[in-house]
Amino acid sequence: MKRFAIINANILTPNDKGSPCRGEEQGKLIHAKHMLIEDGIIKMLTNDINMLPDCEKMDLDGALVTPGLVDPHTHLVHGGSREHEIPLKLDGASYMEIHHAGGGINSTVLATREASDSELKEKALNDLKHMLSLGVTTVESKSGYGLNFDDEVKTLKVSNQLNKEQPIDIIHTFMGAHSIPQEFKHDPEGYINYICNDIMPYVRKQNLAEFCDVFCEEGVFDVDQSRRILNKAKEYGYRLKLHADEIVSIGGAELAAELNAVSADHLMAVSQKGIEDLADANVVAVLLPGTSFYLGKNYAPAREMIDKEVPIALATDFNPGSCPSDNFQFIMNLGYLYLKMRPEEILTACTLNSAYSLDRGHDRGSLSINKKADFIIWNSDNLEYLMYRYGKNHVNQVWKDGKKVYGVK
Ligand code: NIG
Ligand code: FE
Repeated sequence: MKRFAIINANILTPNDKGSPCRGEEQGKLIHAKHMLIEDGIIKMLTNDINMLPDCEKMDLDGALVTPGLVDPHTHLVHGGSREHEIPLKLDGASYMEIHHAGGGINSTVLATREASDSELKEKALNDLKHMLSLGVTTVESKSGYGLNFDDEVKTLKVSNQLNKEQPIDIIHTFMGAHSIPQEFKHDPEGYINYICNDIMPYVRKQNLAEFCDVFCEEGVFDVDQSRRILNKAKEYGYRLKLHADEIVSIGGAELAAELNAVSADHLMAVSQKGIEDLADANVVAVLLPGTSFYLGKNYAPAREMIDKEVPIALATDFNPGSCPSDNFQFIMNLGYLYLKMRPEEILTACTLNSAYSLDRGHDRGSLSINKKADFIIWNSDNLEYLMYRYGKNHVNQVWKDGKKVYGVK
């Protein structure tokens, strides 16, 4: 048995009571000084050093320790990049105007279809290495840049291989309903039938993805189409997610609640009723302030959602078009300054609630007994500093399943 303890640390963790934290609970953390780990699992948190058994001890001299970060919304595997869109944006073109002119998601679809498995893998691996250095120990990865059988399967296989070949755990989501591809431009119903009948059952059967997500947005998939796709997904055994009310308020949050989705993501344009429905159904709101930042849009009403008892998670939304950054620490800074969340609420949003939004609250997301020893040792003794001093990586070491997987000397 491999047994060791970290001692004299400022350990801060959300308190897992078996469901996502909401309302006041979102901002309540537990504090301890010492943590015992056995075979990659947390066995004790204590303030009394005499409670620890005889074992190897790492003295952290007051350093902040938190759970590893769980980024629950990324479009990790994709070809190419979209820097050429910035001048169009600066000239006033909106995200949806670029999308409808054949740019946007569909231009990344072309680049992804052209890329080989190994090119996609190498590119995503590079991004994963960067995420790990920033403290991410679990990440969600969506398909949605293949938009046909072969290329959706190709990107999901790459993502599944990466899960086995580097330290971050990757959780997969099928998002064939990310956009209508060019070849179905005049037959959106044909595309919906194709993904529902041909791609979705195969992906689930091969266990290439456990969640299904839809871009429910004006001019992409409307509420009725999204409902049909997600109901089909439910039949195949997927858990549901939704890109909801990102740009226009069309009832995405309401739909997520109606379908008992595990999360509703974006919500920059969420309605009052949408907020109430999410709270009633206990759907995790995954907010993506990096997208508001990059698109120059408003931020989701996080404070109001917390007041109304919607559990909040944060994510990067890392993708080439609306948030070309995988920097989860920057998302924390945005959460503080623009979502006006408190540091304690942000930590819960980036660890325990994000784990729950991926159905992983039972084994990670907090430093609780019998959970995975996924944790970060920070170059700071307090949480507020990370949220304030932006643009710098504050990670000292990242530990995954009780093993050191990243460390600064
Ligand atoms: O979450 N909104 C849809 N999908 C992504 C953007 C994808 C892209 O622009 O390539 C998002 O913002
Ligand atoms: Fe997204």
